[in-house]
Amino acid sequence: MKAVGTQRTPLIAGNWKMYMGGRAGHELARGVAERAKGVGGVDVVVAPPLTVLAAIAHELEGSRVQVSAQNLYPKDEGAFTGEVSAPMLLEAGCKWVIIGHSERRQYFGETDASVAEKVAAAQKAGLRPIVCVGELLPEREAGKTLEVVYRQVDAFSRILGDQPGFGVIAYEPVWAIGTGKVAGPEQAQEVHAAIRQRLTGQSAELASATRVLYGGSVKPDNAAGLLACQDVDGALVGGASLKVADFAAIIEAAV
Ligand code: 13P
Repeated sequence: MKAVGTQRTPLIAGNWKMYMGGRAGHELARGVAERAKGVGGVDVVVAPPLTVLAAIAHELEGSRVQVSAQNLYPKDEGAFTGEVSAPMLLEAGCKWVIIGHSERRQYFGETDASVAEKVAAAQKAGLRPIVCVGELLPEREAGKTLEVVYRQVDAFSRILGDQPGFGVIAYEPVWAIGTGKVAGPEQAQEVHAAIRQRLTGQSAELASATRVLYGGSVKPDNAAGLLACQDVDGALVGGASLKVADFAAIIEAAV
């Protein structure tokens, strides 16, 4: 049970990554909407691949499930073959966008600077950013977790500060993503509290309004323990968001 005074509505987001880009995605979205219907007091978001994004957003209109993109390009329009802008994503029915996921940092050369640029572009357009941070295993082993996470947060927190509570931070320790190695509730809480403390240095309002999600091997059997932590305001779920029953169980664990 969270301490009295915690006002942040939990948020459970499913990052489908490069899965479910066709008919299966539609079925998954419908299934999630059906199961989420009866669960109040939690925000639910799904992030499908681009091929089904607009169609799923359209299909989910009027449901309590909102749609997120997994990336954006930080210009409104132009000759940028293969890229998609924040205004385009909004027009497609997205309300959210994941920015700076570790897979994008690792495989697509995203840096703290490009993440900041994307956060600014999203926010300017009215698209809510879910900004990912997290340390690599060698960084944790070297005792550098907070140093890395602070550097990543500092790169964009001033932008989030323009609209406290509009954006969300996801702490995803890279060693826990897709590995089955989840951070224990104490490990997660320690970093989440440190992130909130860091935001306090900027503004108390930003610190109390910003939801900090945990991501990395969240499953139905470990979700409740993580979500009970004082500074864990939800989850960014990968693998378990691809099965209606698993994702629904995690949504239910948040309330
Ligand atoms: P898994 O839940 O599959 O570990 O993925 C986490 C993640 O990367 C969510 O963005």
